[in-house]
Amino acid sequence: MPSAFDRKELRSYARSKRSEYEAVLKKIVEIPSVSVEPERKADVRRAAEYAVSLLKSFGGKAKLYETKGHPIVHGRFDRDPKYPTVTVYNHLDVQPAEGPDWKTAPFDFIRKGDRYLGRGTTDDKGPAITALFGARYALEKKVPVNVHFLWELEEEIGSPHFETAIRAQARAFATDSVVVSDTVWVSRSRPACPAGLRGLQGFRFELQTGETDQHSGTAGGAARNPVTELCALIAECVDGKTGRVKIPGFYSEVVPPTKKELADLKKCGFTVKDFKRDHLFRSLRVNDALEVMKRIWTMPTFEVHGIAGGYQGPGVKTVIPPKATAIVSCRLVPEMDPKRIVRIVRAFVKKRNPDVKVSAEHALAPYKGKTTGPYADAIRGAMKFAFGKEPVFVREGGSIGAIVSMERVLKSPVFFLGLSLPEHGYHAPNENFDWPQAEGGIAAFADYLRRVGEMKK
Ligand code: BES
Ligand code: MN
Ligand code: MN
Repeated sequence: MPSAFDRKELRSYARSKRSEYEAVLKKIVEIPSVSVEPERKADVRRAAEYAVSLLKSFGGKAKLYETKGHPIVHGRFDRDPKYPTVTVYNHLDVQPAEGPDWKTAPFDFIRKGDRYLGRGTTDDKGPAITALFGARYALEKKVPVNVHFLWELEEEIGSPHFETAIRAQARAFATDSVVVSDTVWVSRSRPACPAGLRGLQGFRFELQTGETDQHSGTAGGAARNPVTELCALIAECVDGKTGRVKIPGFYSEVVPPTKKELADLKKCGFTVKDFKRDHLFRSLRVNDALEVMKRIWTMPTFEVHGIAGGYQGPGVKTVIPPKATAIVSCRLVPEMDPKRIVRIVRAFVKKRNPDVKVSAEHALAPYKGKTTGPYADAIRGAMKFAFGKEPVFVREGGSIGAIVSMERVLKSPVFFLGLSLPEHGYHAPNENFDWPQAEGGIAAFADYLRRVGEMKK
């Protein structure tokens, strides 16, 4: 077993596998595994079946496990029960992709120089395939670890069946630690690992006040307008300008960042200029870098994702619509309890507009990560080895439902080796990934596994 990898050799190994990597990524990106769209069910399944065959073609054992929703995939490269087992988690489902802003067809894998375009290239198929290639190198070099892959196909809908599915397979999926590659760096020159993730509680608000469209000349003034009422309700929940949530008790469980966390934020390399450029924002609510970071990583939010109801066509059609819907969610930060948020939101809406029907959707608990100890040090070492720089540990704003479930059910610690960059455009049109992140990522995964192999079981 090697006591260290040669960076140059490993990098050139990765380069020698580039065309194979691209062929695999093309295959998987071109399967439109959009988990939220019922009509894509067969495509999601096809992605799972392809994933099983891919793991087998790499020499592993792999199986598709049914759930009450989309399946999950588990692969294993077992070498010796005496060795520690590392489970690599990724998700192979993607967000929907449509709309005029896509410059290429979202489910065509397009290579432009070092850049790979297509829905799912960075979230999360590119990182998933990168980890697989990195693991193959480590296994070929006889690193003393067993490597498992746990690939979910319902992450983008809040992992509704994941916990039950892994509980049913707790013995087969048993592992000593988990590593997840589904997070974003601060910038290309600054690797980052999450010291925590936000949770999420989704809602739908629905209001029906009539049966059909009515003429606003004959009924307007007396008729209730459900779109207007939902807008008023939302404005009572949140200050649209500042984002301050006005629901009593909303912030009561929030734990402010520690001095150490604030110090890490200050030196993490985040700039407002890059943030605006990477996300194509024209202006922000605040312009101070620390204030922006606190808001996206350490504070909860109340967000309206869409509001529907009434006329959407050309010109002005003077109707009073019968019905309106708002899709809303709250990002949650450590110590906030999604169940309590459901309770206070329901109670608040009931008081302000008792006719609005509230349904609670995804519920993901916030997650506080580990930044010390041998695994975190292995992450630091592997990132430094592969990319030349130690990662900063900062909290991230997104949510991954599976994390809390894996810690709870598999009872093993979770660590992060993310590879995505802000400009890759998570969930955005023209999502992309790139070869430098893949090449470095292959080296980082291989080296992480080597470091874990050196730790005594
Ligand atoms: N990979 C993201 C989560 C993420 C985003 C981590 C940004 C770190 C930084 C994941 O695929 C995702 O998009 N999760 C959804 C879950 C939701 C739809 C239930 C999210 O955060 O909105
Ligand atoms: Mn993801
Ligand atoms: Mn996502």
